[in-house]
Amino acid sequence: MRAPKRSLPICLRPVLLASTFVTLLALALFVIQLQLSPRDLRRLALRADYATIRSFHGHLQQCVATNGLGLSAYSINECEIVLKYPEGTNSSWFNQQFKMYEPLEYRFDVCESLLLWEQYRNVTTILTREYLDARPDGWLEYAAQRISQLGSKKCYNMSKCEEELQLVLPAKPPFLPRQFAACAVVGNSGDLLKTEFGQEIDAHDVVIRDNEAPVNAKYAKHVGLKRDFRIVARGVARNMKEVVKGAADEILIIKSLIHRDFNTMIKELPNPVYLFQGVVFRRGAKGTGVKSIELALSMCDQVDIYGFTVDPGYTEWTRYFSTPRKGHNPLQGRAYYQLLECLGVIRIHSPLREERKQNWEVVPSRQTLMRAHEAARKLRREPLDHPDSVGPFSACKVWARAKAERGPLSGSPDMSHVRKNSNYSRWEKMDIKHMRKEAQQHYKALKGTSLYKLDGNKLDDLVCIKPARSRMSEA
Ligand SMILES: *[C@@H]1O[C@H](CO)[C@@H](O)[C@H](O)[C@H]1NC(C)=O
Ligand SMILES: *[C@@H]1O[C@H](CO)[C@@H](O)[C@H](O)[C@H]1NC(C)=O
Ligand SMILES: *[C@@H]1O[C@H](CO)[C@@H](O)[C@H](O)[C@H]1NC(C)=O
Ligand SMILES: *[C@@H]1O[C@H](CO)[C@@H](O)[C@H](O)[C@H]1NC(C)=O
Repeated sequence: MRAPKRSLPICLRPVLLASTFVTLLALALFVIQLQLSPRDLRRLALRADYATIRSFHGHLQQCVATNGLGLSAYSINECEIVLKYPEGTNSSWFNQQFKMYEPLEYRFDVCESLLLWEQYRNVTTILTREYLDARPDGWLEYAAQRISQLGSKKCYNMSKCEEELQLVLPAKPPFLPRQFAACAVVGNSGDLLKTEFGQEIDAHDVVIRDNEAPVNAKYAKHVGLKRDFRIVARGVARNMKEVVKGAADEILIIKSLIHRDFNTMIKELPNPVYLFQGVVFRRGAKGTGVKSIELALSMCDQVDIYGFTVDPGYTEWTRYFSTPRKGHNPLQGRAYYQLLECLGVIRIHSPLREERKQNWEVVPSRQTLMRAHEAARKLRREPLDHPDSVGPFSACKVWARAKAERGPLSGSPDMSHVRKNSNYSRWEKMDIKHMRKEAQQHYKALKGTSLYKLDGNKLDDLVCIKPARSRMSEA
């Protein structure tokens, strides 16, 4: 019988040594920690957040380089990134105000963009009665701003304002976060005629179009035939009846103002019509396109965009159905859309990308995005003073409770029979129990609370409305 082994095999010795070392190190760290104040510890954590964001910039730069068709990105500090067009890009848009051509470099705030767009996934972008009730001076000031021809800047007579708005004012949000899986947002660019995305667009759960975009056999192979939402600006709202002809279920979202003439028209329509609970978008891309993306993100998991002139080097400003018109800051907008794609907000589809076969793998994973989001949140939220501000309600500035479980449906007593007998209010009546699993989970996580933006793009400015106390829980 051999003598029992007295020592470990040679090859295991370094392992043992290493593990002893690690244990000692952990012990040493523990002792050091005991002497660190909570403030110091938070500083250390903050340093980890900086590291997370810095490595996230690496992901972004790679994504822009791979997907940006010549765009490149470089980082200035932990939150700022510059997207740069290739040398020699034809910047043919002359800015009359500043007497110069558009620059070829644009600076964006990554931290803020991450926080802002992630917030859109949890808020509603439809104006409701509960919002006007909850918002400080919601009726007196905000409602008045949404009514044209009111004759005054304030709603001194609330019943008068209510009369103007009631046709388009649901009690609660008719659409909820995560309600749809994949949504297509279709812009109006002449680009669309260069591809045949029709079937691909129609394969989405929901298609969002804008303004007077025609949907018919003539353009079907380029833009599809499915019609679910349409965001309309004021000028187009004048012509609503023509625009929604033959599509009684298409939901109209009016971007700006309601007024007497629109109301007269809406009373004759079978379509659901609501007002956008809009914010003034000051950074990045402008126009109806960005509003459509905000709307989409507030209801859909995945947002695919088509028909936005996003390819660098594109020198026309065209529409697929009419003659060109003048555009605004196209280069800045395109760079911003590319950033949004690399932040996992949208997926861009365009003629050039179609040829190159889009590669989504370079877009940071949901997990990476969430880690960067968390780090950005801490860096932005003065974490040394508010270490505990976490969760979906951390940005709630105004809290309120809804008045009734089911408020009144939108509508007015003098609607036409067409509207009265249509299904225009079916979304308002929809029960959470009949929505997809993801929407239900989110609803549960937020305990039925609806979130709205208060003003502009400020991050800490949500209006948060808890559901009415149910009769059961009050008993
Ligand atoms: C830039 O675009 C303008 C307007 O389309 C055109 O007139 C000009 O020739 C272009 N320049 C170059 C260098 O491509
Ligand atoms: C307020 O508006 C309603 C509806 O337009 C009207 O009937 C009422 O007379 C107005 N009240 C006052 C005090 O002007
Ligand atoms: C959005 O809601 C989810 C719950 O569905 C929550 O986990 C997440 O923190 C919220 N995001 C933001 C930015 O509030
Ligand atoms: C309303 O919806 C119901 C059920 O989906 C349907 O049977 C009915 O025909 C619709 N009515 C109109 C006017 O579209």
